[in-house]
Amino acid sequence: MQVLSVASEVFPLVKTGGLADVAGALPIALGKQGIAVKTLMPGYPAVMRIADNAVLRRTFPDLLGAEARILEIEHKGLNLLILDCPELFDRQGGPYLDVAGKDYTDNWRRFAALSKAGATIAQQGLTGDLGGWRPDLVHVHDWQAALLPAYMRYAPEPEVPSVITVHNIAFQGVFDADIFPALELPPHAFTIDGIEYYGKVGFLKAGLQTSWEISTVSPSYAEEILTPEYGMGLEGLLHHRSEDLTGIVNGIDTDVWNPETDTLLASTYSASTLKERAENKRRVAERFALDVDDAPLFCVVSRLTEQKGMDLLAESLDDLVSHGATLAVLGSGDKVLEDAFHAAALRHPGRIGVIAAYDEPLSHLMQAGCDAIIIPSRFEPCGLTQLYGLRYGCVPIVARVGGLNDTVIDASHAGLAAEAATGISFGPLTTDNLARALRRAIRLYNDQKLWTVIQKQGMKSDVSWNRSAALYAALFSEILERKGI
Ligand code: ADP
Ligand code: GLC
Repeated sequence: MQVLSVASEVFPLVKTGGLADVAGALPIALGKQGIAVKTLMPGYPAVMRIADNAVLRRTFPDLLGAEARILEIEHKGLNLLILDCPELFDRQGGPYLDVAGKDYTDNWRRFAALSKAGATIAQQGLTGDLGGWRPDLVHVHDWQAALLPAYMRYAPEPEVPSVITVHNIAFQGVFDADIFPALELPPHAFTIDGIEYYGKVGFLKAGLQTSWEISTVSPSYAEEILTPEYGMGLEGLLHHRSEDLTGIVNGIDTDVWNPETDTLLASTYSASTLKERAENKRRVAERFALDVDDAPLFCVVSRLTEQKGMDLLAESLDDLVSHGATLAVLGSGDKVLEDAFHAAALRHPGRIGVIAAYDEPLSHLMQAGCDAIIIPSRFEPCGLTQLYGLRYGCVPIVARVGGLNDTVIDASHAGLAAEAATGISFGPLTTDNLARALRRAIRLYNDQKLWTVIQKQGMKSDVSWNRSAALYAALFSEILERKGI
């Protein structure tokens, strides 16, 4: 089976969050299931830098008004199709935000172009010296690629089966109706069965409406988004399509995240040499100007946003410190939250340290050196940092929602008795319950023997892509069978 995967960020080239990790690792895991994936992504500067020896596979003289071409290259096990379109993607700044941190005003055009290019490749194929290539199925990720199935639906050629994966329903790509003519879709696409969304254009809505199958990144989140509390206005549409909705938990790249071989650590280790974590802990304490003592060291590696419950954590910090824990916070995002964490660090020198940055290498060291990672999310489609935590013996303390619910087993009486507990999970999410969970974690930590058991059980849990890639492969096959391919 040949699959075209389309995403706006792909690790290790461009990453702002978990989407990149998934878009970078899933194709490789699917390869092991006998599915050949090509990944289409925008030609941002960081991507064009690896494209010197790329092969031309198609030209678009007029892609929504811009000149573009598709280049193919293999990179770190990924078969990449790069949408080289300098007018839309050769920019300073990030994939979505300019240097000042503001959304590019033409994001709708940039990602409509990505979707249109993908639809054209799917329906008409690649050209050029390497010969024609057409996918049997298209897999699109999030709103940035969500117009692709809609472009296919309204094109004259037959549709190629499609799956849309929702990584976060909070980001929907909604734009004013006046962009509609520039999308070059027929007028009848602007209806409730197409891309119209409360009088506006909804990219994600269009994808949910027109893709053959919908998946999201955990079974719990697949249920949650059917409710008004989590569906963010799309729950009605999703109800309508609930027969075609499924949840598959993310895996992680267990080669990139391997405590036995990770070159970003001060000291590598395994479940049988957990004492070697101490050097990493010392190094984290040094980086965050924390006291080096016997206290439990908790951490946060996160976007600092309300989604992640960081406002509630900021309110629990005095309690956390008064019960004897220390905390290292690596994160950036909401300015008010950054300030709240900085203020707590000033109140508690040596006990709370904050680095307001995005630092991939430091995130590895923290998983390897900290005792626990705190993830008090309001909603969490899957979450990856708890999976890294499990693999690294950094015990996850999580709110019982979405993928956090599906991947962490609480150290309850039953969890411990069954020798299954891998972390601490709590709910519903309130400041009180969070503070209680943190105190429970400190108590468990103080029983070092028990804590080590929880760490080891976590390190044993299978967080690789193996099982989930097989589920995607089964889903894809089922769709093709239904179509009689
Ligand atoms: P989300 O995609 O919602 O932000 P995930 O848990 O799925 O949440 O993925 C977040 C990814 O980004 C993880 O790989 C995590 O390690 C990484 N990350 C988040 N914040 C930082 C940071 N400040 N520095 C380094 N890595 C970070
Ligand atoms: C989104 C979600 C996160 C998920 C990631 C990858 O960013 O917020 O929970 O792990 O996508 O699927």
